[in-house]
Amino acid sequence: MKQNGINDILSTNKVIPVATIHNYEDLVLQLEKIQHASISCIEITLRTDYALTAIEKIKTMDLPNFKIGVGTVIRPEQIEMVHALDVDFIVSPGLTEKLVGELHKTGIPFIPGVSTVSEIMQALEWHCSFLKFFPAHLSGGIEALKAYGQLFPSVTFCPTGGITSSTYNDFLSLYNVSSVGGSWMLK
Ligand code: 3PG
Repeated sequence: MKQNGINDILSTNKVIPVATIHNYEDLVLQLEKIQHASISCIEITLRTDYALTAIEKIKTMDLPNFKIGVGTVIRPEQIEMVHALDVDFIVSPGLTEKLVGELHKTGIPFIPGVSTVSEIMQALEWHCSFLKFFPAHLSGGIEALKAYGQLFPSVTFCPTGGITSSTYNDFLSLYNVSSVGGSWMLK
């Protein structure tokens, strides 16, 4: 199963909200926006002191079929902590050999990030073909993804970064894009 089954998450969640949560009020507000948009998942970034508490709180809520991911995982030392949280998926904005090795071992679906041809080649060597394309808006956006499709037809991308309510459908229409991530729906 590739990347511990990340395709199940990506194929059933076309839009992945990327949430940076500062406190409980923030969490409730952002969850309301997500549910209002009929979205059934969230990626909580490890960019605030409250992130881990936010994940714990969501896990106590009655949200059937709601998938909880953790994002901005950038160091192998974070993996053990993330594993203990029992999240549904893990997102990294980049990739290193050690990080990807640890992610494979967790058994948790995961998606590492790339933004260049060489990084995609590296990801494929490490048996990753579902990749976050980040930051999508600064790395060539739709045109880059079309070019990558010519070179790497087996790679599926989840573009994230600078995507808006006016552009996300254009990304989703590409054959090599399974889902898109971002924070536009939380603003
Ligand atoms: C991420 O980590 O995926 C991004 O911060 C989300 O990008 P956005 O806020 O520009 O949508």
